[in-house]
Amino acid sequence: MSPIRYGMIGGGQGAFIGGVHRTAAAIAGNWQLAAGALSSTPERARESGAQIGLDPARTYGSWHEMLEREAALPADLRIEAVSIVTPNHMHAPPAIAALEAGFDVIIDKPLADTPDHAQAIADAVSRTGRRIAVTHTYTGYPLVKQARRLVASGRFGKVRRVAVKYTQDWLSRAADLVDNKQAAWRVDPAQSGEAGAFGDIGTHAANLAEFITGERITAICAELTMLPGRLIDDDGAALFRLSGGGKGTLTASQVLVGDINDLAIDVYCDEAGLHWRQEEPNTLRIGYRDKPTEIWHAGANRPYLAGDVLAIQRTPGGHPEGYLEAFANIYRAFGEQLRGAPSQHEDEPGFATIDDALRGMAFLRASLESSRRGAVWVDL
Ligand SMILES: NC(=O)c1ccc[n+]([C@@H]2O[C@H](COP(=O)([O-])OP(=O)(O)OC[C@H]3O[C@@H](n4cnc5c(N)ncnc54)[C@H](O)[C@@H]3O)[C@@H](O)[C@H]2O)c1
Repeated sequence: MSPIRYGMIGGGQGAFIGGVHRTAAAIAGNWQLAAGALSSTPERARESGAQIGLDPARTYGSWHEMLEREAALPADLRIEAVSIVTPNHMHAPPAIAALEAGFDVIIDKPLADTPDHAQAIADAVSRTGRRIAVTHTYTGYPLVKQARRLVASGRFGKVRRVAVKYTQDWLSRAADLVDNKQAAWRVDPAQSGEAGAFGDIGTHAANLAEFITGERITAICAELTMLPGRLIDDDGAALFRLSGGGKGTLTASQVLVGDINDLAIDVYCDEAGLHWRQEEPNTLRIGYRDKPTEIWHAGANRPYLAGDVLAIQRTPGGHPEGYLEAFANIYRAFGEQLRGAPSQHEDEPGFATIDDALRGMAFLRASLESSRRGAVWVDL
């Protein structure tokens, strides 16, 4: 299977996630970076391309130029897909233009800065028939998939309660906003959208809760807050209801001191509680009432894991895989779909779909509305 030739938009010098996407695509092995418009100014875009050894002839000054010039190349040379790793306000314009120009799209979360822009991307997907994947990274972890399989099997009964938190401390001080490229756009509603921490990491938490339970968040009651002088939430918590009748709590914060990247989820079913933590991603703890707690380990040689979970691991147990490999699993699955290969994943495509991403936007709309109205229940 030949690799998917892709062009990257964003991910220039000093950027965070663009380099992660490129590494993930390389680990996946079925992608090849062929072009880029890596930064918001032509000069920086070219410097950024040179820094990573991109072909100068295909290092473009803007994404408009990249889409136009790549579309004009012969079919066996031009890029086939675009990876969009820009701040949230710069998701919809290049995504829609890329889809219209005939390219498939892999894009980071949240889908867009506003629900209308997110819907415009979804409309472009329907109109063009092109394919799109959204990088909700954490569903790429083997034991997250295993947890989903275990819940889906019904052996633990129904989901009663989910507790999910995604908490960080990197914006906990006023000084954190000074000369910080990643912070600058995240605290600016014109670039981030109306949601702050809830958009940036709360959407991951909501996606993880839906992915593991296989259910939908149907209503939410949220209180979002922020440190003095800030314009959008940097901290918040919510109660939510699940489509299967279970209940949940969700916390998303970037100002909780001592928490580095603490994404953690507890899923309590009738007969067991499943516990997974992103900072220790290679163990899944399952607690019972009448027998000892189990620790499930990740690893390509752990035969108790589901077949599709074994298939996405590269190393035997005890040789830890992590964030980059989880990201790579998303690239791999989307690349396989683009090449028409059957999905290796039992009951999901291996990446977040446009519907998943639209639900993330609905989660944000409902959370913001609930908080504005004094923490009332709002349906998604
Ligand atoms: N999935 C994850 O785990 C994860 C983690 C971090 C960030 N993200 C998402 O990735 C996106 C980028 O976040 P980041 O932290 O890497 O931001 P960043 O500020 O570090 O990088 C953004 C890059 O986009 C470039 N850019 C801005 N406007 C552009 C334009 N018009 N054309 C070309 N390039 C342009 C900037 O120059 C920069 O190189 C956001 O949507 C964020 O929510 C996802």
